[in-house]
Amino acid sequence: MTITASARSITDSWWREAAIYQIYPRSFSDSNGDGIGDFNGIRDRLPYLRDLGVSGIWLNPFYPSPNHDQGYDITDYTDVDPDYGTLEDFKEFLSGAHEFGLRVIIDIVANHCSIEHPLFRKALNAAPGSEARSRFHFQDGRGEHGQLPPNNWRSMFGGSAWSRVDDGQWYLHLFTAEQPDFNWRNPSTAAFFYDVLRFWLDLGVDGFRLDAAQGLFKHPDLPDADNPFEEERVGDAANALAWNQPEVHDVYRNWRKLVDTYAEKDGAERPLVGEITGLGSRYLRDYIGADQLHQGFFFEFMNVNWDGQSMREAIANGLQQARDTASPVTWVLGNHDTVRAATRYAGGAPGVSRGDEELGELRARAAALLILALPGSTYIFQGDELGLPEVTDLPADTLKDPVFRNTNGGRRGRDGCRVPIPWQGAEPPFGFTVGTSTWLPQPEYFSAYSVETERAQRDSTWNLYQKALAIRKEHLAGNTMFRSFDVGSDVIAFDRGEHFTCVVNAGDVPVRSPMGSEPTLTSCPFKDNMMPPNTTAWWVH
Ligand code: NOJ
Ligand code: CA
Repeated sequence: MTITASARSITDSWWREAAIYQIYPRSFSDSNGDGIGDFNGIRDRLPYLRDLGVSGIWLNPFYPSPNHDQGYDITDYTDVDPDYGTLEDFKEFLSGAHEFGLRVIIDIVANHCSIEHPLFRKALNAAPGSEARSRFHFQDGRGEHGQLPPNNWRSMFGGSAWSRVDDGQWYLHLFTAEQPDFNWRNPSTAAFFYDVLRFWLDLGVDGFRLDAAQGLFKHPDLPDADNPFEEERVGDAANALAWNQPEVHDVYRNWRKLVDTYAEKDGAERPLVGEITGLGSRYLRDYIGADQLHQGFFFEFMNVNWDGQSMREAIANGLQQARDTASPVTWVLGNHDTVRAATRYAGGAPGVSRGDEELGELRARAAALLILALPGSTYIFQGDELGLPEVTDLPADTLKDPVFRNTNGGRRGRDGCRVPIPWQGAEPPFGFTVGTSTWLPQPEYFSAYSVETERAQRDSTWNLYQKALAIRKEHLAGNTMFRSFDVGSDVIAFDRGEHFTCVVNAGDVPVRSPMGSEPTLTSCPFKDNMMPPNTTAWWVH
C-alpha cells in the first residue's frame, strides 16, 4: 500500500471524538466590569473548563463589529473587538488554553461582512459597475425606476434580501441589511479569506467553525425563487438559488489543502467544521470528506422532539452519514441560535413560557447522557452543563437580536439562550461581572443554576456532565463500536463494545432495567430496578 506524505505525517485526529465547549464570549465571563464578557474573563475561567473535562473550546465571533447581528457582522477579520480585549489578550488566552490542553476553534464568517467593513465602504463610494462594487452583489433594481428589488429573495431575518443605496442600486444580504453578502465569483474574495485563515493559523488556533457554510456562492443569474416564503417575513433556508451552489466545494477543497499544510507541520489536524443549515442533514455528506470539511454539525438530533422513534431515526441517520463520509458525527443539543434544550423539551418557547421545567430538565439531562455515549464528537453550548433554561421572558426593550426587530416582534429571537452565565451568589450578576449590570439581564431564578450551587450538589446537571465526560474519556476513547439492541419501541439501547451499555427510557412509564446491575451513571435515580421515564443510564461492565 502506498501512503502519501500527508497521510503519514498527520497523526492526531483529535477532533474525531472531541468534546468541545462553545463559548459565547459576550456572555461567559466579564473581567473589567462593563457587563460584557471578554478574553481576560475567559482566561480566568480556564480551570473551570479543565475541571468540567472538555477537550476544547469553540469561540463565537470576537472580531470588531457594530453588533447588528452580535458579532456575525464583521468589520475586521484579523483583530479583536475592544469589547473583548486586544489581540494580545487573545494570544494570552490562547496560550493559556493550550497550557490546559484545550484546543481552540474560532468562527469564520465568509458569506457576509459588516456594512462598516472597509471593503463595503469602498464599494459604496465607488460607481456602479466598478471593481469595488463587484466584491458584493450590487444590482440595478426592477421596475420603471429601478424601485423594486432585483429579485424576490427574502432575508433569513425578515424582509427583502435587498437594500437600496443612495445612487439607486441594490445590494444583497441574506441576513440583516447590515450584513452584505460577499460576491464569491470575484476571485479577490477567495484570496481575502485565504489570508484570514492563514493569519489565525499562524497565531496557533486549532480549527475553524464555518458560519453559513452552505452559503458563499449564489446562482450566477440571481433569478427569482419559486418562493413559498414570498408572503412570509423571513427567508427560505432551502432556497436552492441562494444556497448550496456547486462552486462552494472548491473553496473548501482549497481550505482543506491549506489547513493540511499546517497539520503536516506538527501532526495535529486543524479541523474545518461547517454550520450547514436549512438543507437537511443528508446534504452534509456533500461537504464532508478527506478533501473538504472534516465535520459538519449534525442538527437533526437537536431538531427532533423527545420521542423514542424520532430520536432513534436521527441517530441512525447520523451514524449512516458517518459511515458514508468516514467522519464521525458531530452531535449537538444546543447553540447560540437555538432555544435551550431544557426549555425545548419542556414545551416552552420564548415569549410564551418556560414550559414544564422539571420535565424539560430531566429530558435535557437524559439527552446529554445519550449523545455523550454515541460515537463521534460533541459540542456543548455554554450553560447547558448547568441545565440552564431559556430565558423566555426577557423584556422587549432588552432584546438585541435583529430577528425580533426585523419581524416586527413576530419572532422573539435568540437572546434567551445568550444570557450571561451565573457563576456564584444569590443575586444578579451572579459573579459574571465585577460591575453591577450585564448586557442582557439575568433572571433571579438563575441562582439555582449557578456554577457554585451546582458544583456543591451531588446530583446536579454540572456533576452529571462532569462524570459523563470523565467516563467517556476513560472508557470510550478510541472506541468506534456501536450495536443497538431492542428493548421496546420507547427505549433506545446500545452497546459500545463489550464493556459499555447505554439505555434511554424515552417513554412515559417506568421500564424494568435491561441490565442486571446498578448503573454506573444515570440521569435520574432508579427505583427497585425500574428505570424512570425521561432517563438515560450508563453501565460500564
Ligand atoms: C449562523 C450563526 O450561528 C448565527 O448566529 C448568525 O446570525 C448567522 N449565521 C449569520 O451569520
Ligand atoms: Ca468586559
